[in-house]
Amino acid sequence: MKKYYGITPEGTKDMLFEECTVRRELEKKLADVFVESNYREVITPGFEYFDVFTKENVGMQQEEMYKFTDNKGRIIVMRPDSTLPIARMVTSRLNDAELPIRLFYSQNVYRNNPDLSGRSNEIFQMGIELIGAEGTEADVEAISLAIKAISSCSDDFRIEIGNAVLFKNLISKLNLSIEDAEIIRELIEAKNYAGLNEMLDSLQASDEAEAIRKLPRLFGGYDILSEAERICTDDESRSMLSYMRKLYRELDKLGIKDRIMIDLGLVQRHDYYSGVIFSIYTSASADAVIVGGRYDNLLEKFGKNLPAIGFSVDVSALQSIIANDEEKSISSIRKPIRIALTKGRIEKDVIKLFKKAGLDTETVENKGRKLLIPMDEYEIVFAKAPDVITYVEHGVCDIGIVGKDTISENSGSFFEILDLGMGNCKFSLAAPKDADFNAGFSEKTVATKYPNTARKFFDKMQMDVNIIKIEGSVELAPILGLADGIVDIVETGKTLEENGLEVIEDISEISTRMIVNTASLKMRKNEIEMFAEKLETAIKAEEI
Ligand code: PRP
Repeated sequence: MKKYYGITPEGTKDMLFEECTVRRELEKKLADVFVESNYREVITPGFEYFDVFTKENVGMQQEEMYKFTDNKGRIIVMRPDSTLPIARMVTSRLNDAELPIRLFYSQNVYRNNPDLSGRSNEIFQMGIELIGAEGTEADVEAISLAIKAISSCSDDFRIEIGNAVLFKNLISKLNLSIEDAEIIRELIEAKNYAGLNEMLDSLQASDEAEAIRKLPRLFGGYDILSEAERICTDDESRSMLSYMRKLYRELDKLGIKDRIMIDLGLVQRHDYYSGVIFSIYTSASADAVIVGGRYDNLLEKFGKNLPAIGFSVDVSALQSIIANDEEKSISSIRKPIRIALTKGRIEKDVIKLFKKAGLDTETVENKGRKLLIPMDEYEIVFAKAPDVITYVEHGVCDIGIVGKDTISENSGSFFEILDLGMGNCKFSLAAPKDADFNAGFSEKTVATKYPNTARKFFDKMQMDVNIIKIEGSVELAPILGLADGIVDIVETGKTLEENGLEVIEDISEISTRMIVNTASLKMRKNEIEMFAEKLETAIKAEEI
């Protein structure tokens, strides 16, 4: 039996010497901020019953949790979040405590991220929960505490405020299945304008659908609220927007006007949020370092109806920001915007588009074998398609130009803001012409270069299929008798035709997309939007 005594499990690490010093200093700074504001520390167990995290609509994915059983066979999970255990604790141990209850925590959470994603599976979080308080005063207390917390560690940050009510309210009026509503939520979260349009076009037209279409673009300064008022005319949305005005004015008094952004398309990872939501970004991290919001309906699920608001700080991320000096920081403001461009098939067309958009592309046209090249006011990185996603997700590139096939196969957390309308093709299920793929009861075998896409498709069809990963020329698999069919890219259909195969079903459309790192879009909004606009204008000119 292979033994693993020399290494730590994937997504975990030992911390040595200076790293420990930075961690402890950071912990102390944040704890001081919380204690000064009268928050008292609690520690919840490292593992809990599975049931704590699977209450209806709390938005925890069971695939992400580390699970085992206790000696009575009950399912236990390594704590993937601290808010739910605190909700459990407040409604039991603190049932009679005087309100409001102010708590802070400082503990690890554990998430089973996909292999080799470069993400930590053990994340050290500190955060607060303000329980039993509602209204502007409580929201301002929590948000200003978050600002105090980040200010104690970095002076280079932006805070973004949204509201969970707007989306929940609009989507409930569309009467969709839970699955379709979740697809729309994900498209808004990813600012996937093209995908959202496609999805909404397939639904019955309504004012709510039109408002949802505009949600991901509703981000910017205070003026965004007026824009939203023009679009969202129902009473609930209107009263939420007037609340946001009030909140913004209150936060403005903290003297951080130029650091506040409003994003009405902000939808947090957890479904338990029920009011204001917020995220804080720094220019040296690839993702938000603080996330939080109001969750008035969560404690009720544990048996006590109490309003609450809280946030968590990703201390591990802050730690690496502090440890990295300016030089090494992931995307320092002074650096040019860095664009990762997929090498090969689409490369020439994209450079042509850059040229049409008025950019000086001479350096990339004559790049030789160089992989990182200055172009106009930007920096271009040439990379393989899946690496474009990795670089953007980790924030070492701000923008990526990559096919929807690669995005669908690799997924990840970034914004997908523009369809370049080139490299058009489809994902299809195909099989030999003379065979009936759907006949018989035996399990089918499908070969593909895109196992995740194929798995998602067959799961949706509720078909049990044996998927085999092939690296290229997938058409060979049915010819050689290894598979009954293939899931592959079809452009002209020639390859299928010449190898005796035909399309059984189209799965999804593919084209080239512009993706953007989450923190980059927040921290360098104007520069990135300007670049996207240049491309959009060039694309439209081409269409005419
Ligand atoms: C893609 C795809 C098909 C072919 C489809 O392969 O996998 O084989 O293009 O194009 P068509 O419909 O116009 O015939 P690619 O050239 O990328 O090589 P690969 O098979 O190694 O992936």
